[in-house]
Amino acid sequence: MHMMIHGLLSLFTLAYASAVTGLTIQKRAVDFFDPALGGGSIFDNATFSGSPLNVIISGLSSPDVLTDKGILDYAQAIGLHSSQECLGFHLGAPQTANLGDGNGSLNQTMEFRQDFGHDVLGTCLESLLGGNHFLVWRQNGPQASSGALFLAASKEKDSSKNHDLVDDGYNIGRDELAVGAVGTKSHNGVTYETVAQKITGIMPAGSDGVNHGIAVDGIVILLTVTIQPKEQ
Ligand SMILES: *[C@@H]1O[C@H](CO)[C@@H](O)[C@H](O)[C@H]1NC(C)=O
Ligand SMILES: *[C@@H]1O[C@H](CO)[C@@H](O)[C@H](O)[C@H]1NC(C)=O
Ligand SMILES: *[C@@H]1O[C@H](CO)[C@@H](O)[C@H](O)[C@H]1NC(C)=O
Repeated sequence: MHMMIHGLLSLFTLAYASAVTGLTIQKRAVDFFDPALGGGSIFDNATFSGSPLNVIISGLSSPDVLTDKGILDYAQAIGLHSSQECLGFHLGAPQTANLGDGNGSLNQTMEFRQDFGHDVLGTCLESLLGGNHFLVWRQNGPQASSGALFLAASKEKDSSKNHDLVDDGYNIGRDELAVGAVGTKSHNGVTYETVAQKITGIMPAGSDGVNHGIAVDGIVILLTVTIQPKEQ
């Protein structure tokens, strides 16, 4: 099932169509748990304020996608790469998030940057040129173990701007990540089918307490990623 995406409108239309035909969306209840219900937050803690956790990879995704190795492979399939591999340079202070799962505030599990078509050097290029970027936390604490991955996605300017975001950098980073992910992607012999849904009501819109004072539209995108069976 190949999907050509020409814009977010068609992205959401396709996601809706898939949900209606029952191809990929199953029980909403275990996609993720709202962090606020467990005393957590849909914003992380950067140095002075928070970045929105604006993309969630559903706990109903194929279990192999939700492991550390799995998200690494999936990120590569959609054109991003673990930033630890940028020639060993550390690319930014950790941020903490509390997903309301009973694990409290934790540093991100992983960080990814757009790879510009080169697995290793591409990630360094993102640092120099700007581009898409996301941090990952896993909701697997004892009180709310959905297995979902919460991503803080943003779009950065080039490094001379000190990893500042472009205007509207959270909404744009989220949308570009989703558009790049949705549909059919293959990497290392694994084929992923990704469906997106818009989630409202778990993130307040506006710029109150948001890092860099950049307003968010309050929409979180839920991605459900299914590994396709190998063709014989
Ligand atoms: C943010 O940091 C404050 C102060 O260290 C802490 O009390 C709060 O729990 C943190 N919130 C998150 C979401 O990590
Ligand atoms: C988070 O990262 C900071 C800086 O690397 C480190 O000092 C701190 O111990 C880490 N916290 C946790 C809970 O791992
Ligand atoms: C979160 O909690 C789960 C279950 O108690 C535990 O297995 C996991 O290691 C915790 N995660 C971190 C990063 O501490």
